Amino acid sequence: MTFTVAIDGPAAAGKGTISKAVAAHFGFAHLDTGLLYRAVGRRTLEGEAAETAARDLRTEDLERDDLRTAQVAQAASKVAVIAEVRAALVDFQRAFARRAGGAVLDGRDIGTVICPEAEVKLFVTASAEVRAERRYLELTAKGQDTTRAAVLADVRERDARDADRATAPMKPAEDAVLLDTSTMDIPTALAAAIAEIERKMPAKG
Ligand code: CDP
Ligand code: CDP
Repeated sequence: MTFTVAIDGPAAAGKGTISKAVAAHFGFAHLDTGLLYRAVGRRTLEGEAAETAARDLRTEDLERDDLRTAQVAQAASKVAVIAEVRAALVDFQRAFARRAGGAVLDGRDIGTVICPEAEVKLFVTASAEVRAERRYLELTAKGQDTTRAAVLADVRERDARDADRATAPMKPAEDAVLLDTSTMDIPTALAAAIAEIERKMPAKG
């Protein structure tokens, strides 16, 4: 059986948290597609051309523990504007989405470009202030030295670049279900996501 759950939305909306929990709940495989762009972005910080990095991205690039910094996030959103970079990453994402046993992918363009045929599409969002506060707490808990103002500025700048780019801009698919988590805790947001997936799952027996 193939069954694809596409979870898109802006930075720190809760896509990853919901995707991981949904994957564990249903036994689906999970791909955080932001990691692909972060890995390419990190290689450009070392001087490599983005197109080359995207074409020969390796598993080791995705396993590095330094991908979740604000600096790498900014580099990711810059390489994500380049059509050749996005094109080089399409086949891997599509194959992952259609793997047997079900898959959940989270990113910006999963429901619109990577998997327009996904059985479930969620667009998870929250106000920029709420998202920045969540990301600030996450980064400082990991020991990264930053300020609330810097995190809010990063979130706003990436949101604008992601939404305004010509290739695969961040936007809800026409048939996506919107989930605004501004005033939801994680269990509440997760329950809403699970309910939507169950509604779309093939009836058993
Ligand atoms: O994947 P994405 O960037 O959309 O967000 P995330 O990494 O899943 O969530 C960012 C942070 O917000 C994490 O520390 C989550 O624990 C937290 N979060 C939250 O406090 N409330 C939610 N409803 C969802 C996420
Ligand atoms: O966790 P957070 O939402 O902050 O970032 P991420 O999902 O790891 O994505 C980092 C950057 O990669 C985003 O700001 C986008 O520019 C880009 N991205 C994209 O263009 N398309 C995707 N499917 C996933 C990420």
